Amino acid sequence: MKPSAPPQTYRVKSFGCQMNVYDGERMAELLAEQGIAPAPEGEEADLVILNTCHIREKAAEKVYSDIGRLVKAGEEAGKAPLIAVAGCVAQAEGEEIMARAPAVSIVVGPQAYHRLPEMLDKAQQGERATDTDMPAIAKFDALPQRKKRGPSAFLTVQEGCDKFCTYCVVPYTRGAEISRPFSHLVDEAHKLVEAGAKEITLLGQNVNAWRGEDAKGRRAGLGGLIRTLAGIDGLERIRYTTSHPNDMDEDLIAAHGEVAKLMPYLHLPVQAGNDRILKAMNRQHTADSYLKLIEKFRAARPDIALSGDFIVGFPGETEAEFADTLSIVDEVRYAACFSFKYSPRPGTPAATMDGQIAPEIMDERLQRLQSRIAHHQMAFNAASVGKTCTVLVERKGKHPGQWLGKSPWLQSVWFEGDYQIGDMIEVELAEAGPNSLRGIVRQTVTV
Ligand code: 5AD
Ligand code: SF4
Repeated sequence: MKPSAPPQTYRVKSFGCQMNVYDGERMAELLAEQGIAPAPEGEEADLVILNTCHIREKAAEKVYSDIGRLVKAGEEAGKAPLIAVAGCVAQAEGEEIMARAPAVSIVVGPQAYHRLPEMLDKAQQGERATDTDMPAIAKFDALPQRKKRGPSAFLTVQEGCDKFCTYCVVPYTRGAEISRPFSHLVDEAHKLVEAGAKEITLLGQNVNAWRGEDAKGRRAGLGGLIRTLAGIDGLERIRYTTSHPNDMDEDLIAAHGEVAKLMPYLHLPVQAGNDRILKAMNRQHTADSYLKLIEKFRAARPDIALSGDFIVGFPGETEAEFADTLSIVDEVRYAACFSFKYSPRPGTPAATMDGQIAPEIMDERLQRLQSRIAHHQMAFNAASVGKTCTVLVERKGKHPGQWLGKSPWLQSVWFEGDYQIGDMIEVELAEAGPNSLRGIVRQTVTV
């Protein structure tokens, strides 16, 4: 590689989960601290960070097509950008990327991106740099203070996963479960609120596995953290995602009934409705234990909206076993769901299991599942009509005078009037569609 001038502009492109969005924001803040500016819209950046996702095959393949596109654009502009690959593909396939894509200067894993400045120095001297360590010191301590834009912010409280579901790469790419310390999280939440956040979504691969010690040295779980954050003036809403059924505790369930700022929404993946498949997936829970947990949440907060993740076509899944997935969807009546075709991931136990399912069967099962999910989502939205709720104004809509925000149940709501991003307004839900609702504004609550 040739030495290059220091980059003046950057672009971070994040794929995949919300954790990657959060990491992407923090990388951007780190680059800004180095005096590198975001590239103006429509212009090529001097430095491009591809913050990648490895969860399914399609997500991983995107990296190589994106690199190809960047190289071509660089050739046309007569100036090659510095390309860095970050995120979970970098962690899982760092060496392969370096071998397969000579245009890539930097490969940096999700636990090492606080070292980007040193890696950039190396890259400017014409050396290629790889860092996929999982250092013991938390990267968060080495990152600059939060500068937040927008009324809704993410806050990573926990990373990594020790569950080892047999289909999943996360335990390999994100490492073991770690919890960030309580005081750091409270500090970061205060900073986000001072910078204008009205809503904070606590993030973690197993966010409800978060454990720490509160200010008085008492052991706390996520429920305790949420109760403390709810005391921050100016913070109006708290959410958290993604949870594992086996990490739920009574205090977090109770918090849903007791903490007004905790929104009535729970993303609790079950993946499949059949116990043999759940066992083969190493989920370590049954369909029944999952349903009992859902009942507890509904007892604590009767209007709670539920969402889930599903995988169809896990190796060996029969038609009857797949039908159990449809049944659990009907039983829970989810407000929203994410559903995927099983994708064999290199190095995971399920990838080499017998009984891999043919793609056309997976397609057909996914379609049937998605139509059940869509039915319940529509029913949930329709049942919301007539309710009055607060909406956090997040952005302008497509048409003049139109605004978009979220209901407490995470539905997109659009309405008309003269507002500002970050306003909390009281809205009557007047009309339901499959993916959004029309609201009629009753009152501006806070500005
Ligand atoms: N194939 C398909 N979907 C997967 N997920 C995780 N690993 C795989 C895989 N190998 C899904 C799960 C998880 C979500 C984030 O992605 O449903 O909850
Ligand atoms: Fe993957 Fe299972 Fe861990 Fe979720 S709990 S990140 S699906 S291994």
